[in-house]
Amino acid sequence: MELRTGIVDKPSDHLDHCWYVVGTVDQATLSASGPLRVTLREIDYVIWRASDGSLTATRDRCPHREAPLSEGELKDGCITCAYHGWRFGKEGMCIEIPSARPEIPIPKSAHLAMASIEEHYGLLWLCPGEPRQNVPRLGVDSDQSFTRLNTPIQIWHCSPTRMIDNMLDVSHFPYTHRGTFGRDQEKVVPRFQLTQLDETFYGYEYDVVINNSDGAQIMSGHSDDVISLQMSTGFCLPFSVRSTMTYANGIKQTLFMTASPITQKKSYYTFVLWRNDNVETSGREIVDFELAVTDEDRSMLERLRGELSLDQGHLVDVQSDKASVEWRRRYARLVKEGVF
Ligand code: FES
Ligand SMILES: [Fe+2]
Repeated sequence: MELRTGIVDKPSDHLDHCWYVVGTVDQATLSASGPLRVTLREIDYVIWRASDGSLTATRDRCPHREAPLSEGELKDGCITCAYHGWRFGKEGMCIEIPSARPEIPIPKSAHLAMASIEEHYGLLWLCPGEPRQNVPRLGVDSDQSFTRLNTPIQIWHCSPTRMIDNMLDVSHFPYTHRGTFGRDQEKVVPRFQLTQLDETFYGYEYDVVINNSDGAQIMSGHSDDVISLQMSTGFCLPFSVRSTMTYANGIKQTLFMTASPITQKKSYYTFVLWRNDNVETSGREIVDFELAVTDEDRSMLERLRGELSLDQGHLVDVQSDKASVEWRRRYARLVKEGVF
C-alpha cells in the first residue's frame, strides 16, 4: 500500500498481505445509509462505491485532522468529511478543500492511501497491504448448476484461530451439534488422509453419519431419520474453510466459511452456500438450519479464552485433530516467515 497521507502505520507483518472478508457486496451497495466502516486487525477502514460502481477502501481517517471519514456524507460517489468538508472521490483522491482559495492546488498529501478491495461471491475482500495471495478460488461459483446463497456478516467474540480449528474439526459434531445434526452414536472419527483437494484447499475427505430430522431433511432432501453423506473439508490460509457435502440422492452443497480478525478477541464471520438443487422455495429454511448449526459453534467458542496456541505441546492433539494441527503448522509459518 503506497502511503500518500503520511499515516504512521503499525509495522507491517505478513498477515497484512492476506485477503479478509469484511462485508457483503450488499452492504457496500446500500450507500444511501452512508459509507461502510469496518475494522480489521484493530485498524478502521472506510469503504464506499464511486458513481462508476468501483469500490474504494482506505483508512477511516481524514488526513486533515483525523476525523473518521465513515461519519461523513456520501453523495454522488464522494465522501464529504463531517469536520471541515474536505471532499474525497474515487480512489481516495481529495477533490475539494472548501477553505482553500480555488487557485491553490490540492496538496498531494491530502489524497488517501488505498487498501486493496475486491468483490467475489457476494463478499467484500480487503487486503491491508500489497496482496501476496489470491482470494480463495471457489470454482463452484461459476458452475451454472449451482445457486449461491449469501448470509449476513456476524460478529463473534472469539479469535479466528479458534474458529478455523472448529471448522476443521469433526469430533465435536455429536456434542456441540446434538441440537441439529450431531449423532450420539457416531463419536469415533475414522482415520483420514490429508491431501491437496484442489489448487486452493488442503484437507480431507470422509463419510459421516448424521441425524436427519426437521430442518436437516430440507438440507439433505432425504426423509430418513439418519443418513450418511460424503464430505470434503479443507482450508485456505489464513482463515477460510470449504466443506462440500454430497448426499446419496445427488444433492451437493458447498459451504464456504471465513473469519477475519477485528481484534484478537473479536472476528467477523460469514458463510456462503452453493446448492445444485432448486433452492427457490427451500433456500431460506436451508440458511436458517445452517445458522442454527453456526450458533451452536459460536456458543461454544465464545466460552474459550484467548487465541488458539501455536506453541507445540501447549494443546493435546489426537488423530481426529490432524487437519487442525496441519493448519496450525502452516499458519505459524505464514505468521513467522510469510510462506503461504
Ligand atoms: S478533519 Fe476532515 S476536513 Fe478537517
Ligand atoms: Fe461445528
